[in-house]
Amino acid sequence: MKILIVNGSPRGRFSVTLQSCLYLEKRFPRHSFEYLNVGAGIDGFERDMAPAAAAFGRAELVIFAYPVYCFLVPAQLHRFVELLKESALPLGGKYVTQLSTSEHFFDVTAHRFLEDNFHDLGMRVIHGLSADRGDLLTERGRREAEAFLEYAVSCVENGLYEQAPPRSAVSAGAPYVSSLEPCEKRDGFDTVIVADLREGDESLRALIRDFGAAYPFRTRFVNLADFPFRGGCLGCLNCMIHGKCVYRDGFDALLREKLRPADAIVYAFTLRDHSMGSRFKLYDDRQFFNGCRSLLEGRPIACLVNGDMGLEENLRTVLEARAAVGHSFLAGFASGAEEIRTLSARLVWALEHRYAPPRSFYGVGGTKIVRDHVWLKRGLMREDHLFFKARGLYDFPRRHWVRMLGLSLLGALMRSRRLRRLLGDRMNASMLAPYQKVLNKLSQEGSP
Ligand SMILES: Cc1cc2nc3c(=O)[nH]c(=O)nc-3n(C[C@H](O)[C@H](O)[C@H](O)COP(=O)(O)O)c2cc1C
Repeated sequence: MKILIVNGSPRGRFSVTLQSCLYLEKRFPRHSFEYLNVGAGIDGFERDMAPAAAAFGRAELVIFAYPVYCFLVPAQLHRFVELLKESALPLGGKYVTQLSTSEHFFDVTAHRFLEDNFHDLGMRVIHGLSADRGDLLTERGRREAEAFLEYAVSCVENGLYEQAPPRSAVSAGAPYVSSLEPCEKRDGFDTVIVADLREGDESLRALIRDFGAAYPFRTRFVNLADFPFRGGCLGCLNCMIHGKCVYRDGFDALLREKLRPADAIVYAFTLRDHSMGSRFKLYDDRQFFNGCRSLLEGRPIACLVNGDMGLEENLRTVLEARAAVGHSFLAGFASGAEEIRTLSARLVWALEHRYAPPRSFYGVGGTKIVRDHVWLKRGLMREDHLFFKARGLYDFPRRHWVRMLGLSLLGALMRSRRLRRLLGDRMNASMLAPYQKVLNKLSQEGSP
């Protein structure tokens, strides 16, 4: 079978993910492998998509191989997907799958993002492989990689693929026309609107304008469309030691001076290819030099969306999960006048009450993955390590040994039927005892 590997890692031939593909090439000499270096070579494809057209044309199976970056794919690969769509190559009916490596921190949203786009292109989607970056070094990992390729090849041979979800490819809603009267402004909270506002994007412009009208505080505006990014994150990890990015395009100053002081952030974007667009992805990836320390930790976030967010379950998950991991309140999404009023009111309330709800599954699960990663690499990730330590985020269960001992004792006792009968309802009462103590204390002190 003719297999095309679309290497989406900005690290190019130094990619860990690529090593899995090279391994498969060696293990399956009966298939022919061809490589398209889109992560490191994106500038070339910006100029000319002909080599991509030829390679896709030859392939019977396409495998997108990439690292997960910031809940999705690297900005360079995201851009390549945009270019594929713009170039309107005849990809309908072509079999496609994906192979990612990561720490499994939101690998699912990255895979779903690509699958949604493959479906838009009319391609025949085979579920991919999400490997840990160390998997190829283990016997089990190598077996899983081989099984994955055998599975993908057999899907092509037997005509098996995932059905496209029943929805339109483009989630652009009706154009929004500005309709809200400006309210009186007061001083209070510093709010920054971060947008990807391009020429001709009148709907988004009107949404931003109306938010500014409904919102009682003055806002600042940062347009990513105008920012002179020199490129996407290279994955070079130079920043890991001294916290500085190798690019000198002023992005760190933008974050430090314009975004970090903000009390709240409003993202404004037009839905593009099931995401906020590759420009926003550049913005996300390039924050990597800040390590695993969320820039906007604890600060409320709101989104102005030009398009129908109701259709974009995966993007909702990404944004909700990012907020949860960053321990920020996500005030919601607004695409119409009424929603803008509600969004503004929610954001104001959150700011005035310093509202930051506890972390959900996304936040707790995600933070534990990052916690283990930072702890393991604390010699390298110095700043992250100090950040986790200072916030008490090293919450390994092993440290609760007194509780574990108590529960082991209880477990041993509970194995006796006689004791269980004897304890009876007292078990429930003792479980609730600490909570009862809190309630009793409040009764004694009285309500505030
Ligand atoms: C900018 C950046 C963002 C990353 N984001 C994630 C992430 O969201 N989830 C995750 O599990 N790993 C993340 N990683 C780790 C990479 O996915 C992982 O190291 C991968 O194996 C690198 O593969 P490569 O060498 O092929 O580029 C990130 C790494 C970088 C440099």
